[in-house]
Amino acid sequence: MHGGGIGFGIGGVMLKPSFRDRVIAPSLLAADFSRIGEEAKRAVRSGADWMHLDVMDGHFVENISFGPAVVETVNQASDVFLDVHLMISRPDHYLQRFIDAGSDLITVHVEAPHDVSETLGRIRSAGLQAGLALNPATPLDEVLPYLNQIDLLLCMTVVPGFGGQAFMPEVLEKIAAAAAIRQQRGLSFHIEVDGGIAAKSAPLCYAAGANVMVAGSSTFRAPDMAAAIATIRRG
Ligand code: DX5
Ligand code: ZN
Repeated sequence: MHGGGIGFGIGGVMLKPSFRDRVIAPSLLAADFSRIGEEAKRAVRSGADWMHLDVMDGHFVENISFGPAVVETVNQASDVFLDVHLMISRPDHYLQRFIDAGSDLITVHVEAPHDVSETLGRIRSAGLQAGLALNPATPLDEVLPYLNQIDLLLCMTVVPGFGGQAFMPEVLEKIAAAAAIRQQRGLSFHIEVDGGIAAKSAPLCYAAGANVMVAGSSTFRAPDMAAAIATIRRG
């Protein structure tokens, strides 16, 4: 668990990033699993603002990744902000374990079977930030009832389940629509993109209104992780 956000220090006070700040969140899914803690530290040394942790259950998505024990391992290795993305069928059932593991922000999918409003409320009541994700095929309308309950909207830019897939540019329109509604309603949630984010796709996402870039393969598997993160940040 980490207090708030990234190092926008003013007079020694750490400020939480706003939706106007660029945040780079390397996805641990692309890391070397035999040395998870070291990999998280390498990401932080290379300029990562948040660590993105992809939890997959083999039901909601066609892949199984890791659970709360790995979140806890990363939490013990570093005080980096933990952005936990639950791609699981019953996020409400497993929620408390991810809270206890040290998550700072928990994102749940709108397509998963659970009472979305109640789950988001529980995340915030536990003192964490709440995120809501939607798949590329899910219309923005599905998340509109919950926008005042979230700190982050995750617009998936691939069909979730696996790293290393190609960015889907058709999602850009949805990102722009979400940013417009955010402005109309005077809200301030982050817009995060996840899937195929790299030097070419990041600028398109920033231009559409996203500010949090999740990047797995393009960061952990780059020859120079710090340079890769700097390039994505620059956009
Ligand atoms: C996809 C996951 C992503 C994934 C991104 O199901 O949610 O976070 O790790 O990987 P890249 O950046 O390799 O597309
Ligand atoms: Zn993810």
